[in-house]
Amino acid sequence: MTVIVTGGAGFIGSNFVFHMLNTYPDYRIICLDKLTYAGNLSTLEPVMNNPDFRFVKLDICDREGVNRLFEEERPDIVVNFAAESHVDRSIENPEIFLQTNILGTQVLMDACRKYGIKRYHQVSTDEVYGDLPLDRPDLFFTEETPIHTSSPYSSSKAGADLLVMAYNRTYGLPVTISRCSNNYGPYHFPEKLIPLMIVNALADKPLPVYGEGLNVRDWLYVEDHCRAIDLIIHRGRNGEVYNVGGHNEMRNIDIVKLICKELGKPESLITHVEDRKGHDMRYAIDPTKIHNELGWLPETKFEDGIKKTIRWYLDNREWWEAIISGEYQNYYEKIYGSRARH
Ligand code: NAD
Ligand code: DAU
Repeated sequence: MTVIVTGGAGFIGSNFVFHMLNTYPDYRIICLDKLTYAGNLSTLEPVMNNPDFRFVKLDICDREGVNRLFEEERPDIVVNFAAESHVDRSIENPEIFLQTNILGTQVLMDACRKYGIKRYHQVSTDEVYGDLPLDRPDLFFTEETPIHTSSPYSSSKAGADLLVMAYNRTYGLPVTISRCSNNYGPYHFPEKLIPLMIVNALADKPLPVYGEGLNVRDWLYVEDHCRAIDLIIHRGRNGEVYNVGGHNEMRNIDIVKLICKELGKPESLITHVEDRKGHDMRYAIDPTKIHNELGWLPETKFEDGIKKTIRWYLDNREWWEAIISGEYQNYYEKIYGSRARH
């Protein structure tokens, strides 16, 4: 079996590459990645010499390049992680989100049609459902919840999802979609909440919490997400959407306080800053469908996962220090420099 994993030099994609190589020694895994600011080849260094693995630097929007790769490799399965993934960046500059997340998906699916793929899997997000109110803890996102997006990022992911379903219905392309809640774990780019707070706390820098920090996210350890996608691409039903979530809702402020506690840092580092525009209040996934159909359940409890994650950032300083010393500094200034305290 030959599997193309796009975006495999990013956070979840790289964890998925490792998962697949470890789980299926007879599979060939091809990582296709443009290596944007969020893609890091050093992450894949441990598998670069693995004969079952190939890395190809390529933009999913590059139709000719994508077709050439499909011609060479004749993949059975394509798993599309490649995306612009950060909400704050999409608020600053939506255009690249529409290009990569929507048009890139189209290019990949056209190649899948041309080369008669067995399964195209789209890695989507719970953000396509919009948000839930804080005072209705009984409400959860199911696969039937209407699409109702808030940010340019989530709108681009929703646009891609609709296109995936259209290719399934119109052209009969075999597809599945997974919509997952917030992931955390190793190789998480330090622009996202958990790694940013770990890295800043270690440097005794302010911990910028948007607004009051009462927004709720449903956290899932990245390896649990990878197992879910593995099950879906092998046993998920053609044309179906599967929600993936950990039933692990936490307020941002509580996460940040927990990180301070684990690292022995004072909560006085917490700085409340101007809120994100259009900030979603609460995400909460109902994962009943994937549990009933595919037997999936999350295995890592948040108390254990967050400790493992913090340990990983302590043990792998060189990985994130290289990132935050470069172009990322300009981004940090742009996003946080103008954000007034409140
Ligand atoms: P990430 O930003 O860490 O990685 C994205 C990867 O895609 C990078 O390696 C980047 O170089 C690559 N990429 C970007 N544009 C590309 C292009 N045009 N062509 C080829 N490669 C390109 O993202 P992530 O957090 O690992 O998310 C992966 C996927 O999972 C995304 O589709 C995202 O929408 C989805 N998702 C993420 C989360 C989360 O909590 N991080 C939750 C649910 C869904
Ligand atoms: O729900 C899945 C989504 O989770 C994915 O689709 C996205 O790709 C992924 O980035 C993530 O989106 P969020 O916006 O939820 O993640 P982020 O880490 O950016 O923010 C989590 C929460 O923390 C959110 O409520 C905003 C808040 N936050 C974030 C940052 C970076 C802060 O308070 N301060 C910060 O500095």
